[in-house]
Amino acid sequence: MSRKAFAASDAEWCYHDGELVRLGDVRLSPATHALNYGTGVFEGIRAYWNEKRGTLQVLKMREHYERFEKSCRMLHVDLSNTIDELCDVTLEILRRNAPREDTYIRPLAYKAVESVGVNLRGGSQLSIFTVPMGNYVELTGLKVCVSSWRRTPDTAIPARGKLTGSYINTALAVDEAQRAGYDDAIFLTQDGHVSEASAANIFLVRKGQLITPPVTADILEGITRDAVMELADNELGMPVAQRNVDRTELYAADEVFLSGTGFQIAPVTSVDGRPVGTGSIGPVAERLQELYFRAARGEWEKYAGWTVPVEVAQKTAG
Ligand SMILES: Cc1ncc(COP(=O)(O)O)c(C=O)c1O
Repeated sequence: MSRKAFAASDAEWCYHDGELVRLGDVRLSPATHALNYGTGVFEGIRAYWNEKRGTLQVLKMREHYERFEKSCRMLHVDLSNTIDELCDVTLEILRRNAPREDTYIRPLAYKAVESVGVNLRGGSQLSIFTVPMGNYVELTGLKVCVSSWRRTPDTAIPARGKLTGSYINTALAVDEAQRAGYDDAIFLTQDGHVSEASAANIFLVRKGQLITPPVTADILEGITRDAVMELADNELGMPVAQRNVDRTELYAADEVFLSGTGFQIAPVTSVDGRPVGTGSIGPVAERLQELYFRAARGEWEKYAGWTVPVEVAQKTAG
């Protein structure tokens, strides 16, 4: 099994309904709208532990909250906090929890009315919690399949928004893939083009060119996807072509890799039982992985703007 689950501790501080409280003290009614109808919006942000500096480096925090705001707009979820406030609260939670390890931050805004009836009219609530998170998937070569489940089209449930309910599509595909012995699944769009992986965007290298499906291929417009494109262009001199990708291009590719906050840069070594390229990690993915981690951990001055440092106090015994 190459995907790990990470649990949040009840003792950790979280932000809930306007204040900082212990995660274990939060109570939600089973009548909560979002629990019944999937009417929530979320984000996943990583903070990388920088041992040398004694800081957590929060990666692309503002970009995540900007996307969060757009997803909220889609579901008529009214955020009462500005992006600056959301960033400040996030830093405060990290200071309080003071994890000295890689950590995942989960902002969640959801329809909180306790009534039966499907619509988007009710009021909403915001929670933000943190979970320690190492590698979500193995970074040494994933074996993936093309899912029999198609990606939800923009005309039904927009993949552009990070909406809780739409992750049923993800769960069905991951479950199917893992039961068949694969690590992850690749979705096709309704018209049969490659969309993305379960919770990551996809890149291919073909004939020296880096390619990724366009934002109109029912993908979440990944923040790591943008980071990869920036690094590939700046550091490898490989501008990325955003174009429709056929399923069998995955079989013909020299390299395939996935990008995401959880997945990080995860090379794919086989698709539908067919080795990708030589069947081992390719040079482009390997190089991008190295560059990405350097920038994400705040170890590269040139990309200092990608991360916000948080001083983490050493916990005293007792
Ligand atoms: C469906 C989906 N696609 C792509 C991504 C990658 O997005 P990002 O790089 O912003 O984490 C994610 C992860 O959040 C996702 O859930």
